[in-house]
Amino acid sequence: MSFTIRPEQTIDDAAGIDALLRAAFPEAVEADLVQRLRADGDLALSLVAEENGAIIGQVAFVPIALDPDPGYSIWGLAPISVLPHRQGQGIGSALTEAGLSQAEAAGVGLVLVLGDQNFYGRFGFDTMLADGIEVAWAGPYFAGLSLNDTAAPRGKATYPAAFADLG
Ligand SMILES: CC(C)(COP(=O)(O)OP(=O)(O)OC[C@H]1O[C@@H](n2cnc3c(N)ncnc32)[C@H](O)[C@@H]1OP(=O)(O)O)[C@@H](O)C(=O)NCCC(=O)NCCS
Repeated sequence: MSFTIRPEQTIDDAAGIDALLRAAFPEAVEADLVQRLRADGDLALSLVAEENGAIIGQVAFVPIALDPDPGYSIWGLAPISVLPHRQGQGIGSALTEAGLSQAEAAGVGLVLVLGDQNFYGRFGFDTMLADGIEVAWAGPYFAGLSLNDTAAPRGKATYPAAFADLG
């Protein structure tokens, strides 16, 4: 079966993404997070994987502010999901690669992610690159990918307001 990757566009997409997130994650946290990010205008990029008119995967990127300002923009990758019965078939990788290349095209210098390095490491994410970033969820699962070859940044990161309400 073949799928295409395209930006989220319509209200129908929003409903399809909501259903996907509720199916892919054990709790409603991620679905609620994406709804809030959308309502707040804090989705820097939302790409969907579509197959036969149905949304089977999605990746979201959000803007992150760093203090002191490193002089380039930073996005966070969160969340990413694929329908359970379509996981392990390359869809999450295709979404990540498409998102990273759009981030690069948009002039983003750094992408941050919280997650398993077994998945994100293959795209070049490196925990060392996030070492100097202060944020509540810093730790061994917090990684960065430089898109502009600058040194690892240091500073206090601020995510969109929707993240502050996460339990
Ligand atoms: C994580 C997720 C998006 C990956 O998408 P996918 O389409 O299944 O990924 P791919 O088929 O491109 O997998 C690529 C590789 O990553 C591995 N992988 C997939 N999900 C993984 C996970 N949660 N942890 C570690 N490794 C994972 C796969 O085993 C595969 O490895 P292989 O190539 O060595 O066999 C998907 O599994 C998913 O929706 N999981 C539930 C939601 C979730 O946990 N999202 C991530 C947190 S935001």
